Amino acid sequence: MSYSIRRAGADDAALLARLEAQSFGERSWGANNVKASFVAPHVTILLAGKASDPPSGFAMWRDLQGEAELLTIGVEPSAQRKGVAGALLDAVRKQAAQAGAIRLFLEVDGGNAAGLALYKAAGFEKISLRRAYYRDGADAVIMQMML
Ligand SMILES: CC(C)(COP(=O)(O)OP(=O)(O)OC[C@H]1O[C@@H](n2cnc3c(N)ncnc32)[C@H](O)[C@@H]1OP(=O)(O)O)[C@@H](O)C(=O)NCCC(=O)NCCS
Repeated sequence: MSYSIRRAGADDAALLARLEAQSFGERSWGANNVKASFVAPHVTILLAGKASDPPSGFAMWRDLQGEAELLTIGVEPSAQRKGVAGALLDAVRKQAAQAGAIRLFLEVDGGNAAGLALYKAAGFEKISLRRAYYRDGADAVIMQMML
């Protein structure tokens, strides 16, 4: 399945907050933090979905001048396991490379099996572990992909 991917603009704030809340549930950043991402420096927000439907997934990445960080990615539950996140990661990878980044890195909760599987399938490698990094005591896994 191929998906239509576009950059989100300020008009998409409510849509993005809804997608983020549906994807992350209790682990959601909350609507205010999601809205703040639109004005965060060097951050790009992408939306993906079937061309005829509203977007069902999103990704945010940050250009760190020479490298790039995937900040978050989520797909609403009814659209999961259909390649939406994979398509978004592909788009982030291409955009980051075009911006001059030599690597794309991210941090993921070590208990997030879906996230870990997604990143592994996309070609990311574990490079380090931050023990008890999150408030609930979970470890953070740092992963990267060379571009
Ligand atoms: C993680 C998440 C973004 C994956 O989105 P998705 O659109 O379902 O992922 P894709 O369909 O592109 O999956 C690509 C590959 O990743 C792996 N994968 C994705 N979700 C998986 C899961 N729940 N269990 C096992 N493997 C999974 C598989 O290898 C999959 O390929 P396959 O379906 O052919 O087996 C989605 O589950 C989600 O939004 N989760 C909640 C938010 C979150 O945890 N985000 C990541 C951390 S920031």
